[in-house]
Amino acid sequence: MILELARTTEAWSPGRLRRSRRRPLTIHTIPPSWVEEESGLLSFRPECGRSAVGPPRAVDGLTDCAAFDDVGAFLKHPGIDIVSICTPHPNHPAETIAAAKAGRHLVIEKPLALDRTSLRKMAAAVKAAGVSTSVCFEARWIGLFKNIKALLARNAIGKVFYGECSYFHGVGPWYGQWSWNIKKSMGGDALLTAGIHALDGLLWFMDSPVVEVSAFSNTSPDNPLQYEYDTNSVAILKFANGAIGKVATSIECRQPYLFPVLLQGDRGTIWNDQFSSLDFPGTAKDRWITIPAAMLDSGDVKDHPYSGQMEYFLDCLRNSMTPHNDIFSCAHCHEVIFAINDAIASKKVARVKEKIAGFRTANEVTDCHVAAARGARPPQNNHACGGTP
Ligand SMILES: NC(=O)c1ccc[n+]([C@@H]2O[C@H](COP(=O)([O-])OP(=O)(O)OC[C@H]3O[C@@H](n4cnc5c(N)ncnc54)[C@H](O)[C@@H]3O)[C@@H](O)[C@H]2O)c1
Repeated sequence: MILELARTTEAWSPGRLRRSRRRPLTIHTIPPSWVEEESGLLSFRPECGRSAVGPPRAVDGLTDCAAFDDVGAFLKHPGIDIVSICTPHPNHPAETIAAAKAGRHLVIEKPLALDRTSLRKMAAAVKAAGVSTSVCFEARWIGLFKNIKALLARNAIGKVFYGECSYFHGVGPWYGQWSWNIKKSMGGDALLTAGIHALDGLLWFMDSPVVEVSAFSNTSPDNPLQYEYDTNSVAILKFANGAIGKVATSIECRQPYLFPVLLQGDRGTIWNDQFSSLDFPGTAKDRWITIPAAMLDSGDVKDHPYSGQMEYFLDCLRNSMTPHNDIFSCAHCHEVIFAINDAIASKKVARVKEKIAGFRTANEVTDCHVAAARGARPPQNNHACGGTP
């Protein structure tokens, strides 16, 4: 386990933060993660990991660098503002609760928890401590998602009645976490470990919580990737506003990474980076309108927009705003997955057992797209909407 600090990219340079004339926020992670390393936010050396716990030392020119093998000691290190938790899934609840009790703000990797009880304990600890949280649903900051949110805020496809979002990415021995992720007690299930990004995307776009689900799951007959849980699932969702949807996941498929998004409304349709809308009556009937955007087409985290998520979190902390991806809002996505698991086990329609208040629909989130659509001045820091600085 490690405690380190680094900001290696321009976006995170101490100089940039100093220009704000405030004390730079200090971020440490448990443990050094390739997620963080590859995302360019934090600079770590693999040799600083659990196997090489040692005295503080400089890494990449850093002087404030230390390594710990005890969470309690780690949290006592002076000057930590934010703890980023990037451990395997079963660790997230206890580490979140400990860091919240220590008064640290939190960046928490998905999934928050593998069961309802742990999730509720985490939310209670965060609420009691009054700290801020940022759940790593970083896809919300990819260009594709930003454009879709902007189209929806402008009512380009009207009232959305159907949405689907899926995650198809084979996670085998070639992918870092596979060795522990194949275990039921560690990975959880295909949705919790990976498809959760697709479900979060769907919730982010549909503007309504899910109330009921039905679902099936399986593994291919020979289970070549040796998972202890079903690697593929498909769920049908009913939203509170009457819309319906579908989320499918496969972590054993053998194909290029695929993250399809389809949203249909009474005035048009969005299909990934293409759309069709009655707002443009001159468009050829058989042609889509395309808006070029960065797409979710890679499972490699260096292609994921963590910088947007982190810059937004800093903006929220400095301006006393509640992040739209905080633990309370993101708990709903997990509650839906728990209901999907109920549906798979019972072979019946299951209701979402919402116990943590805080889910906010897209329209309740005052992000820059919604604000701009309402004619408000966009935030000064474009990172708040995941834009380029
Ligand atoms: N948001 C995303 O797009 C995304 C992508 C990949 C991984 N993740 C998440 O990041 C987290 C880590 O996944 P990963 O792919 O980096 O896994 P990994 O196996 O590459 O790294 C896990 C790290 O945790 C350390 N570790 C193991 N047991 C530990 C313990 N008990 N205490 C402290 N450290 C321990 C390991 O030494 C290793 O450094 C998971 O929650 C995973 O779901 C998120």
